[in-house]
Amino acid sequence: MELNIAVLPGDGVGPEVVSQALKVLQAAGERFGHTFLYHNGLIGGAAMDTLGTALDTETLRMCKQCDAVLLGAVGGPKWDDPQAKIHPEDGLLALRKGLKMFANLRPVKVLPMLVNSTSLKPEVIKGVDLVVVRELTGGLYFGQPKKQWRTPKGRQALDTLAYSEAEIERILKAGFELARSRRKKLTSVDKANVLQSSRLWRQIAIEMSADYPDIELQHMLVDACAMRLIQRPSEFDVLVTENMFGDILTDEASMLVGSMGMLPSASLAGIPKGKTFGMYEPIHGSAPSLAGQDIANPIATILSVAMMLRYSFALEAEAQTIEGAVISILERDYRTCDIMSEGKTKVGTKEMGDLIAQKVKA
Ligand code: IPM
Ligand code: MG
Repeated sequence: MELNIAVLPGDGVGPEVVSQALKVLQAAGERFGHTFLYHNGLIGGAAMDTLGTALDTETLRMCKQCDAVLLGAVGGPKWDDPQAKIHPEDGLLALRKGLKMFANLRPVKVLPMLVNSTSLKPEVIKGVDLVVVRELTGGLYFGQPKKQWRTPKGRQALDTLAYSEAEIERILKAGFELARSRRKKLTSVDKANVLQSSRLWRQIAIEMSADYPDIELQHMLVDACAMRLIQRPSEFDVLVTENMFGDILTDEASMLVGSMGMLPSASLAGIPKGKTFGMYEPIHGSAPSLAGQDIANPIATILSVAMMLRYSFALEAEAQTIEGAVISILERDYRTCDIMSEGKTKVGTKEMGDLIAQKVKA
């Protein structure tokens, strides 16, 4: 099979982790007989420096023509000025919106050999295996109006949390369907005690649950969910929630695994079924303080490539081979510095990539 992949390494550690993920993908291609064709593009600060915009129309067009997109990370101190007209993050948001990637899947799975690498008690995080389905192209991130202005009484700012029925329905459907392929438990996270958008969200979830009698639907307020996630995380299966709630909860959930460097994500333009066009990226940012030193953990990006094989190419065996290789290298006690603990072997970004790629080939 010949598959076209748009590659947007971005800023900071982005290029370093992306090249390791491509190495692993290449190894899987060789083993299973697939040809991957890579199409490179610029995004974020890298695009601002060369093209004067965080995402140009040509790059967006190129992404649309590919079968999937692999992204590193965007942002860095060089482009951080809050007064600036454009920010690297604008490129990422424009890409998500432009490619209509409304369903962001962020799996959080605690691996037994890492239970001691987190700040939480091993008995609390043991067995955690959940997925957050974050709405990605609406909600507080995109609602209009969105602006800052001056008034005689001082400066004023406004963001809008708006959702249409259709937007809520399709993301809930992604949640229900994903739950159906897993442990059949769906937690819909909202703030229905305060927000109108959440009341509509909850109402639609209740209506839709009639079509999913096999799924146990539970509603949880986002603040209670934040608490539950560190109190009894293993009770969750699939969580589905608004864009901003999902952003916050997934950073929190990453600490169950011990490092943001471990968590992959998929942003899909449809319900995850068959082959769905998607963009794959680690949930971590550009980590400027780690960039260029060969110390960033490439596993989140490597696992993102596994998700690409699963959701965009329907290559489940290939995806599992990569996931299995990651587990096996961790079982052999290799660690990057973010997940390092006593008695383990510390390796850099490139060596971690090499070890996993070797294992995929074997
Ligand atoms: C994420 C990031 C992005 C977001 C930033 C970089 C715009 O935090 O993917 O979670 O807020 O969505
Ligand atoms: Mg985030």
